[in-house]
Amino acid sequence: MGLVPWYMRVAHFVPPDVAHSLARYALSAPSPGPLIDEGLEVELAGLRLPNPIGLAAGYDKDGYLYPAFSRWGMGFYVVGSITAFRRRPLRRPRLYRPRDGLWMLNAFGLPSEGVISVARRLNGLGERPRVPIFASLAGFSLEEFSILIRAADALPQVSAIELNISCPLFDDPAGMEELAELSSSLTRKPSFIKLSPRHSRVLEEAAGIAEGHGLGITVYNTIPVRSGALGAGRGGMSGLPLYGMMLSAVARIRSVSDRVPLMAVGGIFTGSQALAALEAGADAVQSLTAVAFRGPLAFRAMSEELLAAMRERGYSSVSEARASRVSAVLRAPRGPRSATPPRAAIPGPPRGPA
Ligand SMILES: Cc1cc2nc3c(=O)[nH]c(=O)nc-3n(C[C@H](O)[C@H](O)[C@H](O)COP(=O)(O)O)c2cc1C
Repeated sequence: MGLVPWYMRVAHFVPPDVAHSLARYALSAPSPGPLIDEGLEVELAGLRLPNPIGLAAGYDKDGYLYPAFSRWGMGFYVVGSITAFRRRPLRRPRLYRPRDGLWMLNAFGLPSEGVISVARRLNGLGERPRVPIFASLAGFSLEEFSILIRAADALPQVSAIELNISCPLFDDPAGMEELAELSSSLTRKPSFIKLSPRHSRVLEEAAGIAEGHGLGITVYNTIPVRSGALGAGRGGMSGLPLYGMMLSAVARIRSVSDRVPLMAVGGIFTGSQALAALEAGADAVQSLTAVAFRGPLAFRAMSEELLAAMRERGYSSVSEARASRVSAVLRAPRGPRSATPPRAAIPGPPRGPA
């Protein structure tokens, strides 16, 4: 596994829940900063981003890490998911990381300090945060979404909103159409509905709803799984198993809508994988599990790899790559390994989709 630096291999001997908590100390180390290159700049739903690779929701749920982690080279930073009221995490273990294989299981259960507390923290960052902040919002009803959207709309630090209706542990809290309608009536900030692989049968419909209400889409959240390795007995799988599903979702959405703003997330560990998602039609990409394997340098490394992969393919800018709209489903994924791990690799009975 050449992608994983030695210190992250050592970190893998620490229980993953503890490693996750220790990460905040590592992030205060000197960082190399972002890779500045005009070719990496993108426009997403009217926002200008310095590069198209962002941190996905879930790493920094309450915004504590932003001051340190935003120096490590991501093009945008998703805080959350933020809930309307304070929620406690589920019982440990909440994370499972295999010794071999680029994937993880998690079951945190959407813990959050609640929107008032997180909004106060984001407000303390000043009017112009270093890296654009996207707020991931998770409501359990339309009323809660309404509280959350109003709060995110009022915060000048929040550039965009992601509506999480795809937590693997909970059923959809609201119809997509109603939520899209609510969101477009409450905010003019770019807003995205984040879908789960369980929405794969309604992707085209979702694209239509999003486009009709001026929203974008993020695909995908984690794959719902059952596993005895998690305290909750079930949770979500992230990492490489999602990569092929995500590419095919991006291509399907782009086949019905050329205009809907689209973010791709799931199993992106390298710049070449990011490029494949952009070529498939994503406007930007996000990554999270890569940080658990490659460490905090993941974003800087992926930006360098993306630039190198773009040059190799003759693109002078990300928009040129996106314009190519080559269906990535027709190509072999250029990931570091095959897209799907053996099912037997999922630890602990019972197994299978939740
Ligand atoms: C530990 C962990 C916590 C997560 N928490 C959230 C969350 O709170 N809200 C959300 O929308 N997605 C959450 N996700 C899903 C990620 O944002 C992302 O969609 C998924 O992990 C696939 O991307 P990746 O393969 O790059 O990790 C979480 C993922 C992980 C691994």
